[in-house]
Amino acid sequence: MSTDIPSTHPDANWWRQAAVYQIYPRSFSDANGDGMGDLPGVTARMGYLSELGIDAIWLSPFYPSALADGGYDVDDYRNVDPRLGSLDDFDAMVAAAHAAGIRVIVDVVPNHSSNRHEWFKAALTSAPGSPERARYQFFDGLGADGELPPSDWPSHFGGGAWTRVVEQAGPNAGSLGQWYLHLFATEQPDFNWDHPEVREDFHTTLRFWADRGVDGFRVDVAHGLAKDMSLPLRSKPELEILVDDGTDPLFDRDDVHEIFAGWRTVLNEYDPPKAAVAEAWVPFTERRLKYARPTELGQAFNFDLLQAPFDAAEFRSIAEKCLDEAAASGASSTWVFSNHDVIRHPSRYALPDGSTLADLEAWLLADGATPVPDLPRGLRRARAATLFMLGLPGSAYLYQGEELGLFEVADLPAASLQDPTWFRTLHKVKGRDGCRVPLPWSSGAANFGFGGTPWLPQPAWFGEHAADVQDGVAGSTLEMYRSALDWRRKLQSAESLEWLSEPGASVVRYRRPNGWEVLTNFAAVPAALPADVDPAKVVLSSGASADGTVGPETTLWLAP
Ligand code: NOJ
Repeated sequence: MSTDIPSTHPDANWWRQAAVYQIYPRSFSDANGDGMGDLPGVTARMGYLSELGIDAIWLSPFYPSALADGGYDVDDYRNVDPRLGSLDDFDAMVAAAHAAGIRVIVDVVPNHSSNRHEWFKAALTSAPGSPERARYQFFDGLGADGELPPSDWPSHFGGGAWTRVVEQAGPNAGSLGQWYLHLFATEQPDFNWDHPEVREDFHTTLRFWADRGVDGFRVDVAHGLAKDMSLPLRSKPELEILVDDGTDPLFDRDDVHEIFAGWRTVLNEYDPPKAAVAEAWVPFTERRLKYARPTELGQAFNFDLLQAPFDAAEFRSIAEKCLDEAAASGASSTWVFSNHDVIRHPSRYALPDGSTLADLEAWLLADGATPVPDLPRGLRRARAATLFMLGLPGSAYLYQGEELGLFEVADLPAASLQDPTWFRTLHKVKGRDGCRVPLPWSSGAANFGFGGTPWLPQPAWFGEHAADVQDGVAGSTLEMYRSALDWRRKLQSAESLEWLSEPGASVVRYRRPNGWEVLTNFAAVPAALPADVDPAKVVLSSGASADGTVGPETTLWLAP
C-alpha cells in the first residue's frame, strides 16, 4: 500500500479502500417535517449507517442555495441552508459520525457559484471591466450591438452557455450589455480561475470545513476550472471532450493541475491530510490519472463501470484498466454504479442490452413504460455487479437507496420535476429527479417514514423496498449490503488482485492477495462451479445457486 501522503497519523490512508455512502441530503431523512431532508435527519440515522457498515459518508451540497440545480448552485460556501439546518447541526452530525467511526466528506463546487452569491450580485451591479466582474467570465457579445453570445458553447443542461445582463452601472446602465458564462444553468455563473481572489477563497473554504472536522472533499467538475478564454473564443458546439490532449478550451486543460497542487498543500496542513476525490468526466487516457496523483487530489472518480453494460468482458477489462491507472498515479481506484446524476443501476440493467444513453433518456420520457423493464433481472444483475465491485481493491462509492434495491422512479409527474435539464431542454430530456426521490424508511408510516410530504413524490412501490421491510430478512438487498460491507472489512487485503479466469470467459473470477475470492457468472444461465472451488468457503452470494453451480447473473464471495 502506498504511503505517499505525508503524515504521522496511523489512519492517513483510510480512504484508499473505503466504502463511501453518498447522501443526497434533501432526500435522505427529514427531521423537521418540512418535506426536505436535513442534517439532523442524517444525525438521526447514524445508527442505520453504522449498522450498514460504511466507512464514510459523502454529503452532496447542503449550503444555502435557491436549488436551481439541487444545491450545486451555491450562495455561500461556508454555511448551511437554513432549510437543512445550521452550522451547529453540521457539527453535531460530524460528531455523531465520528463517534460511530464514520468519516465525513463534503462536496466543493468550484467551477461556478450561484447567481445569488455575494460576488455575483456585486458583479451584476458593477460596470463592465470592474474588479467585481473579473471574478466571473463576463464578455462582450458578438454582432453589431453585442446581441450575439460571445461563443457557440452550449450549456450541459440544454440551451446556450451565455446569458446577457442588463447593465446596472456605467455608461450603458439600463441597457442590455455583457454576457456571462454558465456551463450549467443560468443560475450557475462560472468563476474565473485565473483570478487570485477566487483561488484564495476556495482555500479558505477548504480550511473552513477541514477545521470543522471533515475528513475529505469531493470536487465537482474538477476538470473544468482552467479555461482558455483568450479571444476570439473558439467554437465548440458540443461540450464533450472529443480529443483529450489538453487543447480543449473548456475541459481537462493542463493548467488545472496547478490549482489542485495548491489544494493539496492546504489539505496537507492537516494530520492526517484531508482526502479528496475529483469528479472529472474525462475519457480514459493517462491524463485522467493526473487528478489522482498524491500531489493533487489523491483520487479521481472513474465512471467506466457505471457506463458499461452488465458484461463479463467489459467489467473485467475496465477493472484491469482502472487498477493499472490507479497504480500508475499512486492513487487507489474508485468504483461507482449509481449517484444523484444517473439512472439507478437496477433500472439500467433491466432495460434491453445495448441500450444507449439516448435510449435511456427516451425510456424516461416514456415514463418508464417502453420498453418494459425486466425489474427482477435488473435487480439480480445489480446485486451481482455490486458484489463484483465491492471485492475489488480501491474505494467503493455507494449511493443512498441502492442498499434498498431501489429502482429509478421513471414516472414522476411532470409537474413535480425540478431538474434544470427538464426546463432547459424544453421538456425533451427529463433529467435526474427519478434517482433523487426521498428514501423509504418504514413501509407503514406516513411518507414511508421520510418525514413531511416529500419534495418529490414517492411511488407506492417504495413501500416494498422500505428499510424496515428488509431489516433482518435473509436475502434482502439491505441484508446483502450489510453482510458484504461486514465481510469486506474482515477480508480486506492489499491493493491488488490476480485474475483466475480467462479473458472472455462469462464467469469472471479474481483473488486478492490474502486469498479472498470473488466469482461472478455474467451469463443468464447457471454455470458449473469451478472444480477447485470448495463450496464450504462461500460466505456470500448475490442470489440463489443450485448445488455445484453459480446461479445466473450471480456473484459469490469465498473466504480464504
Ligand atoms: C456535477 C454534479 O454531480 C451535478 O449534480 C451538477 O449538476 C453538476 N456537477 C454541476 O454542478
